[in-house]
Amino acid sequence: MKIGGAAIRKNDAIGVFDSGMGGLTAVKELNAILPHENIIYFGDTARIPYGSRSPETVMRYAREDAAFLRQHAVKMIIAACGTVSSVVGDSPFITDLPFTGVVIPASHAACTATKNKKVGIIGTPATVRSGSYEKAIEKIDPDIQVTAQACPLFVHLVENGYTDFHNPVTRLVAEEYLEPIRRAGVDTLILGCTHYPVIRDIIADLMGDGVTLISSGAEAAKYARHRLARLDLLTDRNEPGENTYYVSDSTEMFIENAGHFLHQDVVGKVFRCRM
Ligand code: DGL
Repeated sequence: MKIGGAAIRKNDAIGVFDSGMGGLTAVKELNAILPHENIIYFGDTARIPYGSRSPETVMRYAREDAAFLRQHAVKMIIAACGTVSSVVGDSPFITDLPFTGVVIPASHAACTATKNKKVGIIGTPATVRSGSYEKAIEKIDPDIQVTAQACPLFVHLVENGYTDFHNPVTRLVAEEYLEPIRRAGVDTLILGCTHYPVIRDIIADLMGDGVTLISSGAEAAKYARHRLARLDLLTDRNEPGENTYYVSDSTEMFIENAGHFLHQDVVGKVFRCRM
């Protein structure tokens, strides 16, 4: 298949990027639902966080991240980052390849899940400021009431491994952030930043049993499968796919913490790149 003048092939990899490790929640889902696909991941660990930056800066970073992945043989790019997806939208103008962010897939999943038509969104300050989820949900079902809350400390807690169910610091921070969402009586909560599924247990515990949690990274992965199938670009290989990871800063921290996201070892598969 020819896209943007370049040939893309079924057996090319799926490219995934994030500001850091959050996009690994999408990789985990891709590995589960598309076990034969190769994945090339880029985590911009030298420039994280994106969530506190201006839309112009996030846009520039997103273009550079997509261009880095484009240097490899990739057939699709997933911006597995709520912040990037909120700033660039789900239109493909940061790359000529098939592209998805996380906002539209997660919004569809939330609109399907909610029964009381009250949906909560938690994300980075840039994501919440952009109103991206509200706009997407409004288009799908204007009757749904949305309550959004920025959770700026979550990314730092997750990147630094404060992810244990009993961690008192993360619990205290989560209680404070989630209080307005609880008060709004939502029955569905979008984890609008791809880092948050790593502390899903804590969030679920505080929100209670009646609340469905939607992982934006996992929903983007499901959407990618659907899109690749429609384009007839799913791999025809039978052997297990391989994941390769690139980071823009030290590989050590990434290797140490990737297990919290993936529940698998990444030693020997992580490389440092110059942006
Ligand atoms: N993973 C990014 C997101 O989904 C957040 C991390 C950051 O602030 O860079 O928004």
